[in-house]
Amino acid sequence: MTYSGRVPGHVAIIMDGNGRWAESQGLPRLEGHRRGAKSVREVTRACRRLGVRALTLYAFSEQNWFRPSSEVDALMTLLGQYIRGERREILDNDIRLSAIGRVRKLPDAVRRPLESLMAESENNQGMDLCLALSYGGREEIVDAVRSLVTAARLGKVQEGQVDESLIAEHLWTSHLPAVDLIIRTSGELRLSNFLLWHAAYAELYFTDTLWPNFGETQLIEAFREFSRRNRRFGRVGETVPPPDAEVL
Ligand code: IPE
Ligand code: IPE
Ligand code: MG
Repeated sequence: MTYSGRVPGHVAIIMDGNGRWAESQGLPRLEGHRRGAKSVREVTRACRRLGVRALTLYAFSEQNWFRPSSEVDALMTLLGQYIRGERREILDNDIRLSAIGRVRKLPDAVRRPLESLMAESENNQGMDLCLALSYGGREEIVDAVRSLVTAARLGKVQEGQVDESLIAEHLWTSHLPAVDLIIRTSGELRLSNFLLWHAAYAELYFTDTLWPNFGETQLIEAFREFSRRNRRFGRVGETVPPPDAEVL
């Protein structure tokens, strides 16, 4: 599919609606998550092809641990399978895999393949693929504050040095560029604790499409809409560059 409009540098997606998709087909929720993994593959490929620099996918939130344990277990099994199954695709396409969130809470069957693929792909430069796993935006800010307090106690940071870029450096996303576009599928109009700091000047795109029905066509539609937006960052006029490209 051809697309010649503006391509956001960093796209972040709240992949929602797997359960409702399954219900609409008379299938168990797990089947929705399985189909969701197909969308992940298609959208990742499309982003790589279109020249996106970084793609962050909200796969499991810190709050999702409170789902029934049978669903959590099934999601963890699927995640482990996904990471092992995508190894070749990720390495062959020069993709650098990373993760944000309380990753240490993940079961070994997810954490081990994740950490080994992150290490194997760490020098890749084609695109960043970042999985938000056991992720929460408030938790991310809490951890950043904790590490700044520790640094201050050790005398490594003075109060006057604390500014937006220092905070951004202490977030889990410090290795990624600023977020340009946040997409949420399934018709919900909320962020559900996703990238709270980064959402400050990201463009937001909401679609009723359920995640298992979201693919390259729908991604390009979101990019078309992104192309039509004027990003002013508080200033006057047409789209302008962000005031400080280093600040997330
Ligand atoms: C998104 O789909 C996947 C995860 C949150 C892990 P849901 O499971 O939230 O699907 P709905 O929102 O119930 O339809
Ligand atoms: C957000 O979806 C989390 C992920 C997509 C991983 P949820 O389905 O958990 O969000 P709520 O519960 O509708 O806010
Ligand atoms: Mg949901």
